[in-house]
Amino acid sequence: TKKLQWGGRFGAGPAAVMQAINVSIGFDSRLWAEDIAGSRAHAAMLGAQKILTPEDVAAIDAGLADIAAEIGAGTFKFSDTLEDIHTNVEVRLTERIGEAARRLHTGRSRNDQVATDFRLWVRRAIDDVGAQVKDLMLAMATRAAEHAGSVMPGFTHLQTAQPVTFGHHLLAYVEMLARDAGRLEDTRRRLNECPLGAAALAGTSFPIDRFATAAALGFARPTANSLDSVSDRDFALEYLSALSILAMHLSRFAEEIIIWCSSPYRLISLSDAFTTGSSIMPQKRNPDAAELTRAKTGRIFGHLLGLLTVMKGLPMAYAKDMQEDKEPVFDASEAISLCLAATAGMVRDLTADTARMADLAGSGFSTATDLADWLVRVLKMPFRDAHHVTGQIVRLAEARGVDIAQLTLEEMRSAEPRITAEIFDVLTVEASVASRVSYGGTAPANVSAQAAKWLEQLS
Ligand code: ARG
Repeated sequence: TKKLQWGGRFGAGPAAVMQAINVSIGFDSRLWAEDIAGSRAHAAMLGAQKILTPEDVAAIDAGLADIAAEIGAGTFKFSDTLEDIHTNVEVRLTERIGEAARRLHTGRSRNDQVATDFRLWVRRAIDDVGAQVKDLMLAMATRAAEHAGSVMPGFTHLQTAQPVTFGHHLLAYVEMLARDAGRLEDTRRRLNECPLGAAALAGTSFPIDRFATAAALGFARPTANSLDSVSDRDFALEYLSALSILAMHLSRFAEEIIIWCSSPYRLISLSDAFTTGSSIMPQKRNPDAAELTRAKTGRIFGHLLGLLTVMKGLPMAYAKDMQEDKEPVFDASEAISLCLAATAGMVRDLTADTARMADLAGSGFSTATDLADWLVRVLKMPFRDAHHVTGQIVRLAEARGVDIAQLTLEEMRSAEPRITAEIFDVLTVEASVASRVSYGGTAPANVSAQAAKWLEQLS
């Protein structure tokens, strides 16, 4: 108990199981850089406020720099009996510099310390994930520019609906990812307040300068309420929420890759670099990276739900329950980073079978809407009537086992006598996509312009 920071009123050490359930160094050692940065900012402030002597501050600062070097070099010995990263660092500092280290904890508590460390960690993670999101957007916009005119089947209900272009499809994901990036930025903005100096829960009697430590650590301002400062984990929850929505998008795209790669579809293929084989079926080429991206979404959702559940019953202010906030955030960060990298890799790797895409785009009466639109435009039919006539033509084609473009003019006229041969011009998939010039539509010229806009914005 001598070594424990709080051992003064304790006669005996903790039971083994007490220590086992309490220890967090196994995962919170990942906060070491943030912990040392926070302590250096705190010490400098204590010096500036004349709470510590310049000599003590200099010793603390040099000692903490040395400890950072030790940890960086892998020579630091993390100890389970010292509970967490905060105590591990402080005890090591005491070993190195003695007495001065024991003054560092003036005007703070591990409660505001861990809240500060964790905010710093999540802030950096947000920046890293944000950069990866932008890289994926760049990969997708690049392929979209290349495939602005590649016609593919567009689906609703996974039933052939209308032809679209592959570029347009990819740019739909770029829009989703742009919203994800926006959510991460919002999270960062709200996160960027510094809890350091809230102390255990009530603030402190020392004349500390919380604005100075906040500024030194790159925060916009200190948090305003000491109770909220140590008991708030909204920033972690918002981060996990943003990651969950992002993961949901990646999972949808992964699902599409899996469908497109499947032999009945064969719309795209992935190279050896992004597929795996089967140990029994020699012909197999499996899109495992897409499947694992889809699967990792489950654990990210789980981490959001897990932390929400941890937090939901906690009375003010800090409770040890909150020590369980870190693993879900660390694991979700690792998962999303892998998923983003794998997805960007697949986007850059994939080969689109544009002939097959165009072929499938033309099946399933995909230009039936174009036929109906022609009846409205040329014959001035109300759309509802045109829909009905087109339905009859589709039925005819279905009965004959052909596509609508393969019907004769006479057959068409059996449904509507005023139809002319001109109608065949709108029944090709190329004509169909080219006609979709409304704002946000799939016309290749639109898609090229949108892709160019994104590429400019992203580079
Ligand atoms: N290791 C703790 C955490 O991760 C911080 C320490 C707070 N401990 C305390 N007894 N108040 O939340």
